[in-house]
Amino acid sequence: LAGGSLRQDLAGRRVLISAGGTREPLDPVRFLGNRSSGRQGWALARVAAARGAEVTLVAANVDDAAPFGCRVVPVGSAEELRTAMAGHAPDADVVVMAAAVADFRPTEVAGAKMKKGSGSEPTAVPLTRNPDVLAELVAARPVGQLVVGFAAETGDADDDVLGHARAKLARKGCDLLVVNDVSGGQVFGRPDNAVTVLAADGGFTEVPAGSKDVVAAGIWDAVAARSATRR
Ligand code: CTP
Ligand code: CA
Repeated sequence: LAGGSLRQDLAGRRVLISAGGTREPLDPVRFLGNRSSGRQGWALARVAAARGAEVTLVAANVDDAAPFGCRVVPVGSAEELRTAMAGHAPDADVVVMAAAVADFRPTEVAGAKMKKGSGSEPTAVPLTRNPDVLAELVAARPVGQLVVGFAAETGDADDDVLGHARAKLARKGCDLLVVNDVSGGQVFGRPDNAVTVLAADGGFTEVPAGSKDVVAAGIWDAVAARSATRR
């Protein structure tokens, strides 16, 4: 596997990973969604299992077959993902929020399919803010649990990519933040990826570009260096 790494440095570690992208229903057949493929989360699960971890994968709208040795819990919306993560997190040594969670959901979900020409035509979709699942997991975490967030950032007039990422890490309160620079429109749906892992203690690790399995191995190296098994 990735990096030729068959060492069992995650043996006995219970790992909970969210992957994919949530879908927020508008009516029984329509949703607001995003472009997350779930591939990086899948690679994280596959590599963690190969290194000995017990992996639970909360998968938002990913069709791929379960990675070998992983338990998959399928979910659709942000609310379903939140419930699944809250249910499994108390047993985890490491929680990784790789899923793209919708920031907003339609305020009203129509019980029946919306039809054209039935009275007034809709002109806007009112939205409601979704709960911040990562922040909730941080607030509820048991002693010794390591919580890892993800962020796709672009530089702008206010700050560069790592500046925005440092601010997000502080805001979320997680231990590690895996940062993707998406300035050039890279990453989404692409097989390759490069990330920086920022730590709350100020440290950071550059994981050079490679396949998503190679990047996953680099992310687990950073996690394994900081997490001890609680059992
Ligand atoms: N996240 C979450 N719940 C949300 C939104 C995001 O748990 N409602 C998690 C993501 O899974 C990711 C991290 O928070 O691990 C950062 O997501 P991101 O969208 O970058 O952060 P936001 O706080 O939503 O900031 P932004 O306004 O930049 O989108
Ligand atoms: Ca967001």
